[in-house]
Order: sequence, then C-alpha cells, then structure tokens
Amino acid sequence: MSSLANKQILVGITGGIAAYKSAELVRRLQDRGATVRVAMTRAAQEFITPLTLQALSGHPVHTELLDPEAEAGMGHIELARWGDLIIVAPASADFIARLAQGQGDDLLSTICLARRSQLALAPAMNQAMYANQATQDNLALLAQRNIAVWGPASGAQACGDVGPGRMLEVDELVNLAERQFNSGALAGKHVVITAGPTREAIDPVRYISNHSSGKMGYALAAACAEAGAHTTLISGPTQLDCPPKCERVAVQSAEQMHRAALASLDNCDVFIASAAVADYRPATVEDQKIKKKADTDTMLLELVKNPDIIAAVAASPKRPFCVGFAAETQDVERYARGKLERKNLDLVIANDVSQAGIGFNSDENQVTLVDAQGSKTLEQLSKNQLARILVVDIAQRLN
Ligand code: PMT
Repeated sequence: MSSLANKQILVGITGGIAAYKSAELVRRLQDRGATVRVAMTRAAQEFITPLTLQALSGHPVHTELLDPEAEAGMGHIELARWGDLIIVAPASADFIARLAQGQGDDLLSTICLARRSQLALAPAMNQAMYANQATQDNLALLAQRNIAVWGPASGAQACGDVGPGRMLEVDELVNLAERQFNSGALAGKHVVITAGPTREAIDPVRYISNHSSGKMGYALAAACAEAGAHTTLISGPTQLDCPPKCERVAVQSAEQMHRAALASLDNCDVFIASAAVADYRPATVEDQKIKKKADTDTMLLELVKNPDIIAAVAASPKRPFCVGFAAETQDVERYARGKLERKNLDLVIANDVSQAGIGFNSDENQVTLVDAQGSKTLEQLSKNQLARILVVDIAQRLN
C-alpha cells in the first residue's frame, strides 16, 4: 500500500517561477496514494494554468474567494478542513508576509487561516529577497506558530543569481510530506484496537448486529501504525481494507472478539476499544434456518449477555493502558464517566451517536475525552484527522 494512501493533501501555489514544478509535485503525491486538490493565487496563474493542475489532480482548481459558484461546490472553509496536510509550494515572499500578518485577502490565505491541519511552506524566491530581514523575521514567526518551513535549497536561480531561495526538489517535498504523517510518537509500542460491529448469529442466515462501519477504528489503526506502533486490529465484519502496516484479526461475534482480545495482551501497551460490540447474543443458535410459523404473529428470541471485552482487558493481570469508547444518545459526559469508572478505564472517548453526520457509519466524528481529571471536547473532524489527534493525545498520556 502506498505511503500516502488515504491522505488528502491540498497543494497551494503562489506566484513564482518554481510554480511549474508544482505540477510534478501533484503527480508525485498522487503516485504515493494521496488525493490532491489545488488552490492557486492570481499570481500563480501567471506562471501555470489552472487547467494543467485540474487535468493532473482530476479535480477543479480553486482560485477565487468570492466566487458563488465555487463556494457552492466546495467553499473555502470546507476546503480548509478537507486537507490532512496543506503544502504551499512555491511559497513566495509576498505570500509568506501575508501569512505572517494573518491576512485573509485571497482564497489561499483564507484557507491557511481556517485550516485545522498542519501547514507546510516551500519558500521559493530570489536569494536577496530570501535573505532580507523582513522575510527572515516572517519565516521565524511562522515557525513559532508551528508552521513547517521546508527549504529553501541553495544554488543557481532562474534570475541568474546564486544562493538560497530555490524551492526544494519535488522528491524532497514528497518525502517530507510522508514524514509529516509518520510522527514516531508510538514507536516501540504495541497497540491493539477493536473495530467494527459484531454479528451474533440467530440461525445460519440471520444475525443481530449494528450500524458500525469500522471507519473510526480503522482510522485509529492507521494513525497508530503511522505513529510507529506495532498495531493489531481486531475487526468485526466491515467493507474496509486493512490499513497499511497493521495486522488484522478478523472476527464475527463478540465471543470471538473477546477471545482474540485476551490472546493479544502479551506485550500490549495500549488497548483501544472502538468496536460496537453487541451487548447480548441469542441464547441458542439454530442449526437450520428458522421457519415462519403460520399460526403465530410473534416470535420470542432469548438473549444472553456477551462478555464485556474492554472490562476484561482492564481487569487482566497484563493490563495495558485502556481506552474505551462510549456511544451515547443523551447525557454523553455523565454516561461516559460511568463507563470510565465501572470498567476501570484510563480514558473514554465519547461520541453522541444521535447526531446526524457523526458517529455510526459517517466520515466525521466529534468526541469528548473523559478521564479521571475532567473532560475535553474536540471539534468535529474527519475520522482520519481525529484519529491522528487522538493518537498524539494517547501517546502523551503514556509518557
Ligand atoms: O464504526 P463507525 O461506523 O466508524 O462508528 C464508530 C462508533 C460510533 C462505533 C465508535 O465511535 C464508538 O462509539 N464505538 C463504541 C460503540 C459502543 O459499543 O459503545 P458502548 O457505549 O456500548 O460501549 C462502551 C465501551 O465498551 C466501548 O469501548 C465498547 O467497545 C466496549 N464494549 C462494549 C460491550 C462489550 N460487550 N464489550 C466491550 O468491550
């Protein structure tokens, strides 16, 4: 699987001769599996056409802030939230200055202001402009604000000068983009994650289950593996591909998930239970398909309780750091705290599954982290973005 698979990267292009290399950057990021969208400033369009970038990226190129048609498609705020990473390459001296001042006077600067993800700049300008104290001060200020500055390289420039100010080569930028997602925050750790629904058989053709798609758990597994963890994903039935560098153990029922979880505890440092486990299963599983009865309109199904997997892990002598989820429809924090205490967990990630657009089978989620000290609510994000934030949080707690 490619190293940037499932990553959404927004490439911003500003006005500079190095803009011709941005076309190659888009291609190389895509080669490594990323989905790429492009936003260009007016000055950038003097050097390379939006049509070229549209053909390469396979998406409309975004150029105008105040364009009702574009805003109706993917507006600037949506675009700012879309990217898992924003790379501005080339980043001109003017754009760097506007960013340092927090200006939002065109589409790209507005996207950068409204972003939720990491922003990286690949400066490219004449060596004297780069050396100018104003540019140096602006770059230092942006670095303090946790904006990555990639390059510039030194060498012969299009204007004939020689010195620092050349945009980094495309391969170097792509490698830096990959490194951005590989934090190493969980290097040397073994993380076990449960994901997806369980299926509790009634007879050979019927089962009890729920709407979990596995997206949240798979996003967490991908983020843990990117952070350097040896990652085991114990998964109920889903339509999803196993994330890169994860070991998947496929199960169907809660009992199978329970057995797989307990068997995974050797050298397990963190256990994350994101699976929607059926609390009950049919007391007996019929060998043959149950036939409809002509003489009665009702049917009774006797259910028995399933083992509580995360509670069993937390009670194990090999107890790892235990992170549970709480799927609630009301009083989210109170119920989550109850689960934290009752199941003896270190952290509960609570989501309100009654809200449209988050929780079960959606691409986004909004969660509240509940621990013994208090609670913290995060903003609504894509499950991939959220997973990376959760992994950083969990890594900090471990340390
Ligand atoms: O899969 P998606 O479509 O992306 O949806 C994500 C999600 C909504 C399923 C996920 O974010 C989530 O909330 N997962 C937990 C769902 C759940 O079963 O919550 P619960 O409140 O019923 O259980 C509390 C905790 O105990 C959970 O960590 C659960 O995995 C665990 N549990 C529950 C029952 C059981 N028998 N064993 C368990 O380990």
